Amino acid sequence: MGAYLVEDTRKVTTKRLKEMKQHGIKIAMLTSYDFTMAKIVDQAGMDVVLVGDSASNVMAGNLTTLPITLDQMIYHARSVARGVKRAMVVCDMPFGTYQVSREEGIRNACRIMAESGVDAVKLEGGVEIIDTIRGIINAGVPIMGHLGLTPQSVYQFGGYGLRAKEEAEAAKLLNDAKLLEEAGCFSLVVEKIPATLTKRVCEELSIPVIGIGAGISDGQVLVAHDMLGMNVGFKPKFLRQYADLATVITDALGQYITDVKNEEFPNEEESY
Ligand code: KIV
Repeated sequence: MGAYLVEDTRKVTTKRLKEMKQHGIKIAMLTSYDFTMAKIVDQAGMDVVLVGDSASNVMAGNLTTLPITLDQMIYHARSVARGVKRAMVVCDMPFGTYQVSREEGIRNACRIMAESGVDAVKLEGGVEIIDTIRGIINAGVPIMGHLGLTPQSVYQFGGYGLRAKEEAEAAKLLNDAKLLEEAGCFSLVVEKIPATLTKRVCEELSIPVIGIGAGISDGQVLVAHDMLGMNVGFKPKFLRQYADLATVITDALGQYITDVKNEEFPNEEESY
């Protein structure tokens, strides 16, 4: 099976995403961190490409998303934006770039937009950062919210477990989701929360809700390296693995090494 046949080839915008929810068209979103991969992801028919701060784990090998810097995210975002024509490109604001003050958050969001060429930014959190969210949107920068398991708060949570299992946390999440919509966010990611809560959030919000480990919603997002089977050994319940690229790559590399050692590469046709 090849690329998904995209019926609407126009650039995906915040307006288009809202229309997709209204018409019950599901939104497909995937991470990318570099030009070559972003081009493939876009040409496959993805609606949204996320330059996630998961680049900290996937690209740099850090244990958490916390160490990645604003300059590093801008580098990844600029590379991705160059490779994408149709999809909306969203860049995560990294840890520490929007939590300190409203002004700093606005300045850093503007830097991401101006220096990378992406279409929007994503921030983790609800009521705690609502003034900053309002300020960034007032500056003309579209925001995708992120609630539930927010990996930048992993040390506060004490791990990557399911969030909002208890009624109090579920009620706060629902309230935060409404606040984000009222503030003007154009969509919302919910991560690792019960499917019943996701259903309620989708029903009560008019903006699209995109889930990861959160059951059925208006769309889904995954980390590309996880769903392509490059992150060997990472098999959480919510992850569907669509390919085993680690094996494909290892087999290809093994064959190359064998050919080099046996002087079977290059042959005459591959030589000048
Ligand atoms: O950084 C990331 O990849 C994300 C997704 C998991 C939603 O935020």
